[in-house]
Amino acid sequence: MLLAIPEVLAPGELAQIRAMLDDADWADGRLTAGTQSAQVKSNLQLPEESVVARAARAIILAALDRSALFFSAALPRRIFPPLFNRYEEGMGFGNHVDNAFRTHAASGQRLRTDLSATLFLSDPEGYDGGELVIDDTYGSHAVKLPAGHLVLYPSSSLHRVQPVTRGARVACFFWLESLVREDAQRTLLFDMDAAIAALRQAHGDEAPVVAMTGIYHNLLRRWAVA
Ligand code: NI
Repeated sequence: MLLAIPEVLAPGELAQIRAMLDDADWADGRLTAGTQSAQVKSNLQLPEESVVARAARAIILAALDRSALFFSAALPRRIFPPLFNRYEEGMGFGNHVDNAFRTHAASGQRLRTDLSATLFLSDPEGYDGGELVIDDTYGSHAVKLPAGHLVLYPSSSLHRVQPVTRGARVACFFWLESLVREDAQRTLLFDMDAAIAALRQAHGDEAPVVAMTGIYHNLLRRWAVA
């Protein structure tokens, strides 16, 4: 499932993060790439444990925490501490699949990457190119969202960032391990959760709505690894 989640960041949070990132010291993005992806990667990244990265990350994790849509779609078990990248004119990231596992250097914690996420921080009018292109069985999807919006997609997908031809594209990106490993099961639960919410809106907590809610949780109990 490829899902856009609008307005993850409030305007004030976005302004605060942008101000911090404007003054930050960026480093070569190849430092965190795997062997294959290092050959196709050309961008800048914020050092993981820099003061700015930590402060911006805290705002973003708090914002994710209050997003019911993000929780329903991702069913997060562990979130890798969000990172930040910047593509200037001529920079891009060729085709690759994200590494299956990520170890967080500071904590030593390892997670399986089930889902990848990009939270756009630049206004789309401010740069040309820079689309995140994700391939799935339905074809290629070019994603370029307003600042503060997030896209979530399976980490198993082949993807790339098109070269930026004008301006700069700044984004936050991260991986997460889901309680439900299989994308098809997670998608089914997400669709069911949305349908139950719509039924509850229309009919209140009638007995069949309560029963469906129970079925949702019993499926989640069956499929989740906590
Ligand atoms: Ni990637």
